Amino acid sequence: MCGIVGYIGHREAYSIILKGLRRLEYRGYDSAGVALYDGNDIKLSKTKGKVDDLASKVSQEITTEGSLGIGHTRWATHGEPNNVNSHPHYSNSGDLVIIHNGIIENYETIKQELKNRGYSFHSDTDTEVLINLIEDVKKNENVKLGKAVQIALNQVVGAYAIAVFDKNKANEIVVAKLGSPLAIGIGKEEFFIASDASPFLEYTKNAIYLEDEEMAVIRLHKGISVRKIKDDSLVDPYIQELQLNLEQIEKGGYEHFMLKEIYEQPSAIRDTYRGRLSIEQAIIKMSGVEDNMKRFLNADRIIIVACGTSWHAGLVAEYMFEDLARIPVEVEYASEFRYRNPVISENDIVIAISQSGETADTLAAIKLAKERGAFVFGVCNVVGSSIARESNAGAYTHAGPEIGVASTKAFTTQITVLMLIALRLARAKGTISSSEFRMHMLELDLIPEKVENALKSDAHIQLIADKFKDAKNCLYLGRGYNFPVALEGALKLKEISYIHAEGYPAAEMKHGPIALIDENMPIFVIATKKGHYEKIVSNIQEIKSRKGKIIAVVTQGDEVVKELADHVIEVPETIEPLTPLLTTIPLQLLSYHMAVLLGKNVDQPRNLAKSVTVE
Ligand code: M6R
Repeated sequence: MCGIVGYIGHREAYSIILKGLRRLEYRGYDSAGVALYDGNDIKLSKTKGKVDDLASKVSQEITTEGSLGIGHTRWATHGEPNNVNSHPHYSNSGDLVIIHNGIIENYETIKQELKNRGYSFHSDTDTEVLINLIEDVKKNENVKLGKAVQIALNQVVGAYAIAVFDKNKANEIVVAKLGSPLAIGIGKEEFFIASDASPFLEYTKNAIYLEDEEMAVIRLHKGISVRKIKDDSLVDPYIQELQLNLEQIEKGGYEHFMLKEIYEQPSAIRDTYRGRLSIEQAIIKMSGVEDNMKRFLNADRIIIVACGTSWHAGLVAEYMFEDLARIPVEVEYASEFRYRNPVISENDIVIAISQSGETADTLAAIKLAKERGAFVFGVCNVVGSSIARESNAGAYTHAGPEIGVASTKAFTTQITVLMLIALRLARAKGTISSSEFRMHMLELDLIPEKVENALKSDAHIQLIADKFKDAKNCLYLGRGYNFPVALEGALKLKEISYIHAEGYPAAEMKHGPIALIDENMPIFVIATKKGHYEKIVSNIQEIKSRKGKIIAVVTQGDEVVKELADHVIEVPETIEPLTPLLTTIPLQLLSYHMAVLLGKNVDQPRNLAKSVTVE
């Protein structure tokens, strides 16, 4: 997790780095730092806190001239977030400086060896160990920086995206990648380094995404040379033309990215099925599925691996695949799956769901599944991400960049892609008729409009949020397709407002959680007309008789639940498998408004980061 930025060229590096760090702050924000080369020496400033804190420290501490520099925004792994543990880190001589995103697992052993050779350490970080290892190799083997980095990296175990420079050779930056993302932007006589392309979008659309186990020496007037870290072989890098634009990564008038992303859902869902679903021709076409249709049709089962919100999308998909395509599905937390010696066969299809495509546990789970012969299908949002590349085939969601730490449009677009796959397989298997198939396609095509309609309750939801913002605990209940939505609603509330919340299948309430209910407990119930409606009405009665406060998400026009609940939020009617795409909208808005009313940092909640690239 952590964001890294670097620049070498003809502009002032500091302003590019600072702006870049602000764009990468979603990756971690417990401390930040920069190191600039001013033509004579390295100027370094770092601090606990956010990029804004860094900016004020820099203005008091260092001059900002220089057209070479590196910067870092941190999500702490080794060592608490404080000034000393912040990046960049110097080597003992003060000649070399490094930024690092990742973890060096064998750093303790290396640290001990370096200590025995006289090195001292100021921080608790694994990164300071790595820069001193590089220095040690450089001195002892009398090699250039690039070679020293390569030799050192061959001794470490772990994950990294690093950028290093040497003040005695300040016309080059050396970068390397394993397990953490690293993009190099190529401009005219200038180069940019970043964890994703957002820091350099306004300067260049040409980028190289380093592959795992690759490193690059970036020299100002000589260009880039990319090599394999293991065997030193030269790589001819693929220069991509970026499709992203600046508007997509800015707030566009919204107070927070999360709100912008909630409101982007109608277009994000439409973009996700556009070109894949054709009602006129009555087909759904996704090349990743078509090319592997035989495998899908012969699959004994589908195993879905994911984390967090993506795991909730996987649970919705379980209902879809079983219900529509009659394929057995298991949904696994990637972190549990990878460590529990799972039984996997060649006839299993593993679907990995990940917005970022960089989640360490999901990546490790698919590597394990591949080793054991399974076919891996990735559902990712970030194009070219590690999970997308590691998968045998896949389908992208087209949500556009999701910057708010709380996932919103990623969830609904994941469900959209998974619905397309379930429908395509159902048709191919003949488990639904052509008229049912057509009806599902028509309904899916209406969803963006219905999401827009659901968003119209925003002001009403804000009033409800105000009433319940001081709750200490909340329950979320749903059944069938909307049970995962209850889990997702609870996760959204916890992560941005820090209110304790639990999601449950409504019928499970009687097996324990019902004991929690009293007049102080708000209970958010998803009670749409489609799917176990009568059952959920009975559950609402049970809550009511124990004086719980009921906030129900209902189908427009519902009068029965209106009579029972303290508050209702209406969503348009749709077919049951698609209800999660609508019922999730008010729950996202509720958590958003509760967090805002409580004065929380919605886009950067405490202790979290957007992509969890550590296990
Ligand atoms: O990038 P991924 O979808 O793999 O991320 C998985 C989780 O870390 C993520 O969904 C997390 O739970 C979100 N913060 C939830 O809003």
